Amino acid sequence: MHAAITAVHGYAPDYVLTNQELETMVDTNDEWIVSRTGIRERRILKDPTKATSDLAVPAVKGLLEKRGISAEEIELIIFCTSTPDMLFPATANILADKIGAVNAWGYDLQAACSGFLFGLSTGAQFIESGKHKKVLVVGGDKMSSVVNYKDRNTCILFGDGCGAVLLEPDYEGNGVIDSVLKTDGSGGQYLNIKGGGSLNPASYATVDAGLHYAYQEGRTVFKFAVTNMAEVAAEVMQRNNLTSADVNWLVPHQANKRIIDATAERAGLPEEKVMVNIHKYGNTTSGTIPLCLWEWENQLKKGDNLILAAFGGGFTWGSIYLKWAY
Ligand code: UT7
Repeated sequence: MHAAITAVHGYAPDYVLTNQELETMVDTNDEWIVSRTGIRERRILKDPTKATSDLAVPAVKGLLEKRGISAEEIELIIFCTSTPDMLFPATANILADKIGAVNAWGYDLQAACSGFLFGLSTGAQFIESGKHKKVLVVGGDKMSSVVNYKDRNTCILFGDGCGAVLLEPDYEGNGVIDSVLKTDGSGGQYLNIKGGGSLNPASYATVDAGLHYAYQEGRTVFKFAVTNMAEVAAEVMQRNNLTSADVNWLVPHQANKRIIDATAERAGLPEEKVMVNIHKYGNTTSGTIPLCLWEWENQLKKGDNLILAAFGGGFTWGSIYLKWAY
């Protein structure tokens, strides 16, 4: 028995922040952004009263409707995010309340851009152990809440968005087949938010120093991401005896088109087999992979071999081999 994705849905807020608008905010230009990252626009949740859980509500409601089940049937919610509504309670709890998942327990999982992969792997194990039959794995971030729109190094990269999948037992050989997940804490210095935790609790000084914004040493992260994301995807393929011909889809984290291309090239996969929507959404952190699955859902067939891969802050990275179940 495997844990299979039996429904997927996503949500991206309406406001479109284009490269042209960013040109009016920082010293940048469309040509630089497109050629260095592949991003043309990203979505922003403008309403200051709304948070990451509000991105998840329409994603989850759409998923439940598609699957034809009620929120009361959900047993566990794993909410993968780096931008929780609050430090506590967990965004999973807030979401459960908003959608009426009164019988679920849940928790947040923080693994930066690899969050959804870590959550999918964790959620799958509650199904495989027989403990639960309906697990919701949500990946979403309101990155605009932690982006400094005066810093051209980071503000061009990120957007807001959320995707959600339902995991259920599968007895036909489909679902999560294998995963390789990794962390290296020595990379934490290159991509982080220093303020707001127990090390640097919020104060006038932390605000003045900009410690509540996402910080990234782009060039260093790029170097590690390019090598490790390609490496780990190749590793998962190899140990499951998958050649490039066996793989139907590569579903890469959407941080930079050049990182995606390098991963696809290493796996020997042509661009027709690679899900790419970075031009529309930018990097939505935990949201990128489920948003891709949602967007490509209609093209996926039962039994398709999918390789998911991500790299992000921590450092965290990994790859999952998944057989599509419907
Ligand atoms: O999802 C989590 C993991 N994150 C990633 O995987 C992101 C990894 N990093 C990247 O994708 C890339 O490093 C960036 C897109 C962030 C930057 O691209 P790059 O090719 O590595 O550029 P760079 O940082 O080496 O900067 C090149 C130049 C610099 O100017 P000098 O020092 O050569 O004069 C930057 O100041 O480009 C400049 N620059 C910009 N110019 C126009 C940096 N940002 C911008 C900008 N517009 N927005």
